[in-house]
This record gives sequence, structure tokens and C-alpha cells, in this order.
Amino acid sequence: MLLEARGITKAFGSFKAVDDASVTLEQGDILGLIGPNGAGKSTFFNCLTGDLQATAGRVLFEGRDITDLPPEGRAELGLARTFQVPQTFEGMTVLENVMIGAFLRTSHRAEAETKARGVLERVGMIRLADAPARSLGTPGRKRLEIARALATEPKVLLLDEAMAGLTAREVQLAIDLVRDIHRSGITLVIVEHIMEVIMSLASRVMVFHQGKEIACGSPREVTSNPAVIAAYLGTRAAKAAAGHAPIELMGGPNT
Ligand SMILES: Nc1ncnc2c1ncn2[C@@H]1O[C@H](COP(=O)(O)OP(=O)(O)OP(=O)(O)O)[C@@H](O)[C@H]1O
Ligand SMILES: [Mg+2]
Repeated sequence: MLLEARGITKAFGSFKAVDDASVTLEQGDILGLIGPNGAGKSTFFNCLTGDLQATAGRVLFEGRDITDLPPEGRAELGLARTFQVPQTFEGMTVLENVMIGAFLRTSHRAEAETKARGVLERVGMIRLADAPARSLGTPGRKRLEIARALATEPKVLLLDEAMAGLTAREVQLAIDLVRDIHRSGITLVIVEHIMEVIMSLASRVMVFHQGKEIACGSPREVTSNPAVIAAYLGTRAAKAAAGHAPIELMGGPNT
């Protein structure tokens, strides 16, 4: 087992944003995490990456207990993530942003640059290497986040709404990129409201509602699950999801 979370709870005061959630991730999985706004997806995600310290529960990576490791320590082991709201270093170039990821594995500038250029080639952004990051629009920023994460050479990549705010065409390109990343041997967890993305990429889907898992299974299983339809999809959207129609549920990028 690559990644395992056991009984994760995250409380903010008396409110449990995540309430006793568990998940296992095997090498080669693409796990989709869906649910309404405020369901606790990002909070759960942040407990896996160490950006938030869980109130209770354990996180294991390749059998090792990483619950008390900070995000950097988890990244060194091979856990990378993107943020729902891109964390772009505005004053730097695109290349320099990706080099920040590469510096996790090397302290040599030239080596970090070579690696970052390789990643930019791979994600189709090499032409923008010297552009200031602040000149990028939403699709560019989302892709830059993925590039920076890839530069850390992860075993597991967690994408938090990496496609929110993209046009249908841009979503297709991003799906292709995720497929390419997966083919290269990286295991993925994707939080996404765009059902088309979940239906075409996820091998397994976990559904969150009010901090708890209410369903888990194949994309088809969860989209026909009455509890999931009631809590999240609604009947019309469930039909659309089953037909792979591009539908984005309940808004896009927010914090
Ligand atoms: N730092 C915090 N302090 C207090 N409450 C928080 C904090 N972070 C998140 N919450 C609350 O926890 C709940 C879960 O939020 P979370 O961001 O995990 O939801 P989400 O499923 O990612 O939603 P979305 O689809 O909108 O991104 C929400 O009610 C949110 O307001
Ligand atoms: Mg979120």
C-alpha cells in the first residue's frame, strides 16, 4: 500500500470538517475525491499532505507513519500536491517557480534548472519558461502548479481542483496531461467538481459529505448511488455524468 489514512478527524473548534475518514491508495490508482462545497475534501487532502495537522488519526506512506512529519518531510518521501488556489511566486519566472520544486532533490542551481526545463517541456510550457509567473492566466497557473509538483519527483500527486476555471478544451488538455503523468508511474488523488474529469480518469471514487465518506466505488457505482445523488449530484447531473457530459457541479475555484 502506498498511502493510507486511518480515522482522520480534523476539528476547527467544535466543528469537525473531517470526521473519521479513512482511505487507502495503491500504486497506480487514480483516486477521485468528490462532494459538495464544504464537504471537507481539501481539509482531508491537507491532512494527507501535512499542510494541516489532523486532530485524530494516522497517515502512513509506504507503511511508515508520517502523521507527525511536516509537508517538506512528506514531499521528500514522494508526496506532492497542488493547491486549490494556485500558490504562484508572482515575482519569479515560470522556470524559477518550477525550480523551487526541483530544489527538493538537488541544491545545484544548474541541475535544478535542467530538471525544471525538462518538466516544462513535458507539460507543454517550455516556451513560457522566461515569462513572469504573474503574466499567466488561470490555465497557466494551474499547469504551473502541476509542473512544480512534478519537479519534486513524486510517487503520489494530489491535485486539488487542478481543472477548475478551465474551458472545456483546456479541461481536455489537462485530462491528457494527467493521463501522461499516470502513465509515467505516478499515483494520483484528484479532487474535482468537473464530473467529466472524474468519470474519465478515476479508477475509484470516494464521496465526501459533511466530513464523512458516504460512498466509495467505481465512477459508475458512485454516480448511480442514491445517497450520492441526493447529497451531491442531483438526478440530472448524475445522468449527465453517466453520459460523460462535461458538467461542473457547484462552482469552481474558491477557498
Ligand atoms: N481553517 C479553517 N478554519 C475553520 N473552518 C474551516 C477551515 N478550513 C476549512 N474550514 C471549514 O471546513 C469545511 C470543509 O472545508 P473544505 O475546504 O475542506 O471543503 P471542500 O470539500 O474542499 O469544499 P470546496 O469544494 O468548496 O473546495 C467548511 O465548512 C469550511 O468552512
Ligand atoms: Mg476544496
